[in-house]
Amino acid sequence: MKNADFLTGITPSGTPHLGNYVGAIRPAVESSKRRDLTSYYFLADYHSLIKNHDPKKRERSSLEIAAAWIALGLDYENCVFYRQSDIPEIPELTWILTCLTAKGLMNRAHAYKAAIQENEADKNKDSDKGITMGLFSYPILMAADILMFNARKVPVGKDQIQHLEMTRDIAGRFNHQYKKLFILPEVVVDESSAVLSGLDGRKMSKSYNNFIPLFDTEKQLRKMVMKIATNSIGPDEPKDPKTCTLFSIYKAFATESETQAMAERYAKGIAWGTMKQELFEYINQILKEPRTRYDELIQNPGDIETILKAGAVKAREFSVPFLDKIRKTIGIRSLG
Ligand code: TRP
Repeated sequence: MKNADFLTGITPSGTPHLGNYVGAIRPAVESSKRRDLTSYYFLADYHSLIKNHDPKKRERSSLEIAAAWIALGLDYENCVFYRQSDIPEIPELTWILTCLTAKGLMNRAHAYKAAIQENEADKNKDSDKGITMGLFSYPILMAADILMFNARKVPVGKDQIQHLEMTRDIAGRFNHQYKKLFILPEVVVDESSAVLSGLDGRKMSKSYNNFIPLFDTEKQLRKMVMKIATNSIGPDEPKDPKTCTLFSIYKAFATESETQAMAERYAKGIAWGTMKQELFEYINQILKEPRTRYDELIQNPGDIETILKAGAVKAREFSVPFLDKIRKTIGIRSLG
């Protein structure tokens, strides 16, 4: 197996939603099909330990996310699709990297700093209240995910840019201290892959609880679309597509010419009820077939397991010999 041209992880926390689809799943599905690239995609279940302490939720979320990616057309035979916890080399590399990472670097991590600030704002005597070592050092686990497969490019959301900078810093330290084994990975923030608005107009996100699940029933999808907040402009009055949540969601799914045509209907004053119905129909027609596949996969988790296990075998074709090389380089090797 070759090193990763593209690599990205998905933390199994929660149910896959429309925002995940346009932001991460759809672009990944496209590159998973490319014969000229080796793409690695994995369920970052060790990352999910940081926030979630409910085993059932973690298990369910892993199942749903794997099923969603497969149902939406991930070419799991062409790419490398696996579960982080099936690759024991990752936690081993994490420790090796931990011993090279400056504590000061971790002190600067946004997520950790935000947690400290929250405690201080709450007038907590202990500014580290509730902060585990997992939260503190999680950028090192992420660095190990990436460096284990010597990934060249890492597509992520904007909130992950700092983690990529840290990964490069850590890789540089290893290369300097021991030997140049690691490629410094580049972050890829795809500006064109839309950030979807949620039910209330803010970014669609699990943490705002304003998301539309990808694979509820058709009836439920319709109900959710009907819930999207609009303003009180009347049925025949012109409307501004730029500030409209319905339009922004439509745009993330439709072609350019369809989007253009819809903008013209806004100018003429399409009624909100009509727009909601059309938006529902548009999304539903895209999700209909994947929904059937998804339901089948959820009913047959053994099929998903087989796919993930085969992915781990492929991934370990790279990670086992590479970790061996890393161990030798740092002087952990057979003495005889
Ligand atoms: N931390 C990432 C997120 O929250 C998920 C992730 C874990 C990841 N390991 C990764 C992304 C490695 C890219 C590469 O979105």
